[in-house]
Amino acid sequence: MSQSPFRIGIAGLGTVGVGVVKILQQRHDLITKRVGRPIEIVSVIAGNKNKDRGVDISGYDWAETLEDLANDDRLDAVIELVGGAAGDIKTMVERALDNGKHVVTANKALLAHHGYDLARRAEAKNVTIAYEAAIAGGIPIVKNLREGLAANDVSKVYGILNGTCNYILTEMRETGGDFNDILKEAQEKGYAEADPTFDVDGIDAAHKLVLLGALAFGVKPDFEGLEIEGIRKITAKDIKFAQELGYKIKLIGMAQSTGENKMQSMAPCLVDENSPLGNVEGVFNAVMTHGDFVDDTIMIGRGAGEGPTASSVVADIIDIARGDIRPVFGVPVSELEECQWKGLESLTCKTYIHLKVEDKPGVIADITTCLKEAEVSIDSFIQHGHEDDGTASLVIMTQKAPFSVTHKAVGAVEQLACVLDNPTLLRVENT
Ligand code: HSE
Repeated sequence: MSQSPFRIGIAGLGTVGVGVVKILQQRHDLITKRVGRPIEIVSVIAGNKNKDRGVDISGYDWAETLEDLANDDRLDAVIELVGGAAGDIKTMVERALDNGKHVVTANKALLAHHGYDLARRAEAKNVTIAYEAAIAGGIPIVKNLREGLAANDVSKVYGILNGTCNYILTEMRETGGDFNDILKEAQEKGYAEADPTFDVDGIDAAHKLVLLGALAFGVKPDFEGLEIEGIRKITAKDIKFAQELGYKIKLIGMAQSTGENKMQSMAPCLVDENSPLGNVEGVFNAVMTHGDFVDDTIMIGRGAGEGPTASSVVADIIDIARGDIRPVFGVPVSELEECQWKGLESLTCKTYIHLKVEDKPGVIADITTCLKEAEVSIDSFIQHGHEDDGTASLVIMTQKAPFSVTHKAVGAVEQLACVLDNPTLLRVENT
């Protein structure tokens, strides 16, 4: 057994960085046994050297700059836990790779935007970038896709990739509250950031989806090619109507390959309340895959927090220290294809349509005429009376139809004078 330590430097001692230090300290003996050599933290860097973080870092060098860390000849790997896609962090990761150091990171934004270039740099130096913690926190989905499912042609990867959104949608359903009130409560409880944009507008989940798509289909990560819709427009009424129809509303990231066509989407969807994803509640994440030999798999777990995220970071460090060096996106960089992602035009699904209309004779006839002309058939229809202000809410669940056709038909519905607001259109996932 080689006993030369695997030496690391850590950039970032926030929640995750401190979690990594704690695991490496508390599990030193077990990890050494599992790896066959000790993992040694040589150097760290964070915003404030003197802050009490509840963990003893006095035995580690303090790097003065990110550049110093990336240039430190003693290090086998740099562990990047600062976050952010631009500026100093990107430069540090580039420098570390160019210097022949492995990089372990939880930084989904960096990889979603610059993953191809960084993977190219890593490969040129025979090192890797490991990022299990970047997607769904503690769930080992990178390992699942890249190694566990390596025998399969994976045709679909999809799931609940943001705990904040799932928490808000779960609370909205359980309490009947509106989005803004529940968001405020989530912020007070520390489940949502003070600036919730990245989470509730779907950007955080989109970063993760882009990486999942690259891994599943062997394509270059392409954040620009993804249309993103968050959960701000979902109302308490939508949640109730969905429930009445036997569904829950979830923010679903989905990448699917049907032969030549590859499509990806990040949008709120209806999922059957009794389906695997329908049962994933609160801050939990879930990722489902479909492979041709294995059929469906699902992994559920905590997508954020000190323990789960640090667990994934340390697992990556252990892999690399053992010599398990994998291609960043599952195939050599030269094999990564440029993907022309399609919208959902070729997808066939049921669709939920929520309309606010004037309450007067003939409104339903006008709306259903638009659907009839597009040959979109109605599966369910809900109207519970009308409001005192002379308006009414109508909900239509279509039968399965090409999403593009339903979308176009709803475009025509929207032009009717009796339709008062922008319709809410939500795809039913997996129909
Ligand atoms: N903020 C994310 C979430 C976790 O709410 O799931 C980190 O990506």
